[in-house]
Amino acid sequence: MYICNCNGLRQRDVARSIEAGAIRPRDIFASHQCQAQCAKCVCDMRRMIQDATESYAMAAE
Ligand code: FES
Repeated sequence: MYICNCNGLRQRDVARSIEAGAIRPRDIFASHQCQAQCAKCVCDMRRMIQDATESYAMAAE
């Protein structure tokens, strides 16, 4: 499933960037050497970052 159609970023690409330390959509774009274009994907990216952050917090408890 594509998260960012403009840059061809799939869900697994975004997840990999988050696992590697991306904490903002800008970091995700940078890790794939691209930039936001229409920015429609930014909300989905933020949601994935938030979900991952919550998962890490729960795992640390
Ligand atoms: S869908 Fe990601 S920049 Fe357009």
